[in-house]
Amino acid sequence: MPFHLTDEQELVRTSVREFADAEIAPLAATLDREHRPPLESIPKLADMGILGMTIPEQYGGSVSDYLSFIVALEEISRACASTGVMVEVHASLVSTSILHFGTEEQRQKYLPDMAAGKKIGAFCLTEPGAGSDAGALASTATKEDGHYVINGQKIFITNGSFAEVFIVMARTSDQPGTRGISAFLVDRGTPGMQIGEPEVKMGIRGSSTTPILFDQVRIPESALLGEEGHGFKIAMKGLDGGRTGIAAQALGIAQGAFDQARVYAMERVQFGQPIAKLQAIQWMIADMSVDLEAGRALVYQAADLEDRGQPFADAAAKAKLFCGPMATRVTHAAMQVFGGIGYTDAYPVERMYRDARITEIYEGTNEIQRLVIARSLLR
Ligand code: CAA
Repeated sequence: MPFHLTDEQELVRTSVREFADAEIAPLAATLDREHRPPLESIPKLADMGILGMTIPEQYGGSVSDYLSFIVALEEISRACASTGVMVEVHASLVSTSILHFGTEEQRQKYLPDMAAGKKIGAFCLTEPGAGSDAGALASTATKEDGHYVINGQKIFITNGSFAEVFIVMARTSDQPGTRGISAFLVDRGTPGMQIGEPEVKMGIRGSSTTPILFDQVRIPESALLGEEGHGFKIAMKGLDGGRTGIAAQALGIAQGAFDQARVYAMERVQFGQPIAKLQAIQWMIADMSVDLEAGRALVYQAADLEDRGQPFADAAAKAKLFCGPMATRVTHAAMQVFGGIGYTDAYPVERMYRDARITEIYEGTNEIQRLVIARSLLR
């Protein structure tokens, strides 16, 4: 069934594409080369209302349906995948978790500043011994005279070097595995929180990915997000929506590479004609286009299910499982269309090829998505 966006959703696409082409794309190569996060884009993203698309108006946001946000994320990622993941973690994983599980006081404290881009969010789940097996996390939060004291080590934290609000998962009881984990809101600068040097990565080099050490980090009891012991479920629910977001990021990267390759194929002359006249190139372009259409249908379907209040975890996992490898395939083929020049930084396709690969890994690897899908089919 073809998926049709409403006029309003199409308007979101047009306006965000215009904005991203003008303001985000021109920075992408520099951010990548300098391994620098897109801090200068944050006020512009806030002014466009993009950082507040998951936040209701009563908290200063510009809330839209989730599908509109996903379309915006696709367009931002088409221009710059690093900016895409910054927005995704902030607006999807972190803002929605605060909105759904936070107290009124917590919502008032964080969401207006998050919509305005004054506070960017980060999500601290992964640890050295807890990647795919998130329930194996070992950080602890111990209750001490009206406070929690957090100890532990988190790694691969997106937005780590500049975020102001961190959702941190830590154990509050001795129960094994996924039980006994709680979620906390920790402010940047809380004594004992040490943010390490950003990782040097293959792609999304404009995204800051840091380790964070929690050494006797003392936070008030009111910093608990949701109920004590419910942290794993809060993380999983956040990741359900987040996975549609990463699928949209992958889709945007692939669309960007396809658009570049299509134009290049029509301009580049070899054997006395544009290479677009060669069947080998035509087949690549055709295959890329089918991949994009299939991926877009899965991503929009997952977002639409969420908007309609239907179960969507399985659809989000399917969208991410398809779109991650699809972005790898499409950027690979796009580079092939460019030939030798595509392997240099003369064109963005080389960056897009590197950026695509992570979408098969973070917010749950391809293998974890298969596990989520299979469990939903076999229960
Ligand atoms: N919603 C609500 N509850 C859920 C849930 C969901 N989507 N998924 C699981 N749960 C509940 C289960 O019902 C179960 O509840 P009970 O204890 O009451 O029975 C509990 O959580 C434990 O679930 P499982 O038994 O399924 O747990 P598991 O240990 O087998 O692990 C997993 C499940 C899917 C493998 C999970 O560990 C997982 O998703 N791993 C991947 C981790 C991941 O995605 N990390 C991403 C890091 S963040 C990131 O990447 C952001 C970024 O920088 C871009």
